[in-house]
Amino acid sequence: MLSKLSKMTPLKQTLIRLLARPSAVVAALLPSRRSIRVMRRLNRIILSAPQLLAIAQKIEEQAPCRVLIFGVGHDSLFWHRLNRNGRTVFLEDDEGWLRKVTAKVKNLQAYAVGYDTEQKDWQRYLGNPALLVMDLPLPVTERPWDLILVDGPAGWCDNAPGRMKSIYLAHQLVKPGGDVFVHDCEREVEEAFCERFLGRENLIREIAAPQGLLRHYRILSPGPKRPPTN
Ligand SMILES: C[S@@+](CC[C@H](N)C(=O)[O-])C[C@H]1O[C@@H](n2cnc3c(N)ncnc32)[C@H](O)[C@@H]1O
Repeated sequence: MLSKLSKMTPLKQTLIRLLARPSAVVAALLPSRRSIRVMRRLNRIILSAPQLLAIAQKIEEQAPCRVLIFGVGHDSLFWHRLNRNGRTVFLEDDEGWLRKVTAKVKNLQAYAVGYDTEQKDWQRYLGNPALLVMDLPLPVTERPWDLILVDGPAGWCDNAPGRMKSIYLAHQLVKPGGDVFVHDCEREVEEAFCERFLGRENLIREIAAPQGLLRHYRILSPGPKRPPTN
């Protein structure tokens, strides 16, 4: 995406930069298929337009509501604006990236967290949920969340933190009957942790895209999950 932008004429690049923010504001006010498609392209968002729309519709149905998002990105302004008068909180482990995003999006409620995991050790964590517990800021743990989006931390190589903790925590922190969306579920680790902690029985829908499969779960019984009996 970035290389695409650098291949454009300077005028086109300037136009895209000028329109990126307003397009996110408009899409958050009127989240339609079209406004989201435009906003996604101008902001170089990785989630696909149908994936963004599916999550946005769930937020709109419940707004103002409580939304927790693992990972900040070019979509953060959109989520922040969409949940008008609600509470939208972001968790991010990459401090440089967090500074970059929060410098652009004023009043974003985002916290730096440390996962202390490496993706290559994922099988050890799968069998030992006690290792997945972590300290979180009080505003994250004091009340359950209506909707949680897991699109972080990075999980694209062995020494990335991986999403073992964020998927586990989503199950702990969502309200009974709340929605959990997880991106990149075509990957081995996301797939294994979703199966183990979110459960196939809670899976509502999958939305495929060239850059990652999104799964939508409705969690009727959040909190501690027993190991499978077989
Ligand atoms: C997988 S990206 C997805 C962001 C957004 N939801 C989207 O669809 O565009 C989110 C994670 O990637 C990591 N990351 C680091 N540098 C990044 C960058 N330059 N752009 C995007 N994500 C970055 C961050 O730690 C962040 O938690």
